[in-house]
Amino acid sequence: MKYITTPIYYINARPHLGHAYTTIAADVMARYWRGRGQKVFFLAGTDEHGLKVQKVAEKEGVEPKKYADKMAAIFQETWKRLDIKWDFFIRTTDAAHQKYVGDFAAKLYRQGDIYKDTYRGLYCIGCEAYIQDDDLVDGKCLLHNQIPQKIEEDVYFFRLSKYQEHIKKVIETDIFKIEPIERKNEILGFINQKGGLKDMAISRSKLDWGIPLPWDKEHVFYVWFDALLNYLSALKITGANVWPPDLQLMAKDILRFHALIWPAILSAGEESLPKKIFAHGYFTIEGKKMSKTLGNVINPTEVAEKYGTGALRYFLLREFPFGEDGDYSEKNLIRRYNSELADDLGNLLQRTLVMIERFKIEVTNKHREIRHNGIIEGKMESLDFQGALAEINRTIKGANAFIDKEKPWTLVSDAKKSREMGLETDQKTRFEEIFLHLVSILHQVAYYLEPFMPREILEMQKQLKTLKPQPIFPKIKS
Ligand code: MSP
Repeated sequence: MKYITTPIYYINARPHLGHAYTTIAADVMARYWRGRGQKVFFLAGTDEHGLKVQKVAEKEGVEPKKYADKMAAIFQETWKRLDIKWDFFIRTTDAAHQKYVGDFAAKLYRQGDIYKDTYRGLYCIGCEAYIQDDDLVDGKCLLHNQIPQKIEEDVYFFRLSKYQEHIKKVIETDIFKIEPIERKNEILGFINQKGGLKDMAISRSKLDWGIPLPWDKEHVFYVWFDALLNYLSALKITGANVWPPDLQLMAKDILRFHALIWPAILSAGEESLPKKIFAHGYFTIEGKKMSKTLGNVINPTEVAEKYGTGALRYFLLREFPFGEDGDYSEKNLIRRYNSELADDLGNLLQRTLVMIERFKIEVTNKHREIRHNGIIEGKMESLDFQGALAEINRTIKGANAFIDKEKPWTLVSDAKKSREMGLETDQKTRFEEIFLHLVSILHQVAYYLEPFMPREILEMQKQLKTLKPQPIFPKIKS
């Protein structure tokens, strides 16, 4: 059984291409594992508390919960449109999640891992994080171009410092694996910095959009304390017995929360740690950061409507290595779509099926046996989606080149003649070999591409059954 998670996204804005990227990657992995016969629990969800959400709801003049209901539905609609097949969708406003967080924290409070003290410092609503003076430029948070709140209040702290050495050890030894390796080193470097990890504030008073602390109703939990526990509460709610996660995906922006605070909270709660967290890169849009101010926020549904869901999913994971930063541009999407999907794959399927029909080739179970490819599987397991897709494309190109070289139509008349005469000839054998090869390559390609483009590959598999070719990837005029 595999347990895989994505971050639960803030609902202060509609889902954009960045959220889609991580969610698609998780869906591809989940589908890949399912295709290999494994049981998978894929968790998605929304992070609905916090000041950021409260502010937007206020601006729209609706109750935060009502606003959250609307946005959670939009996220789910979007994921459906992108062929994301999650097993459970957690919302942090679920009563059961709220109860779980309260109970979990109460245990930590009872055992002395949570205590009350005064917090003096800064809070950036954009980051939903306590920040330091040296995070500021001209008094503003660099990331959000916002003046942070100054806070001086009595809050509850979590004894993060107590777990520092333990966290360091589990990261160093890969008991709690952080990938890619650069990210792991970055986190270890951060822990080793002067001062080490400090205890962290986990509650706010004078705030009401959050989960109240069970032992002090004047406070609500800091949104990250609430949010991280979703990965556990979801299992409590569904009864799925899959702890710990095999893979937790996110971008590098929120790695510190997951690599430092998360294992500390889990250790305090005596839960085992996730096996692997993977922080992928950040992408820009035509060289620029995706932002509301620049007006270049991309709605993934629109891209899917325009070019097809499969095209979007394929392109995002094909274009640059998962784990590194990259760039998204429509021009490159069209180019890759036309060359690798419309030309390479589309042609291979079309030509093969047309020949099968014309030459009346009998397709048997032998043609449909999946030939496993260790290179592709190795790349999938290590989340090298780009590498896996490159290998699949190489196979497709190879098969097209094979047709060009073999020119099966030149063998056909000999083969036909030999069949009529009831004779076995070399040509006939070769002719059969060629189509056995081509059809099994098509089945292999469909098998490995299904996680990336489920609906298009379903269509391809249908055609491989009916042997009636229909364009699946019509060429886009650029
Ligand atoms: N609510 C928290 C996560 C809590 S998880 C317990 C949060 N939400 S978020 O809406 O800001 O989502 C951040 C995540 O969105 C990133 O980690 C990444 O998965 C995805 N991305 C957002 N923009 C992105 C890019 N431009 N590029 C790649 N991923 C992006 O943080």
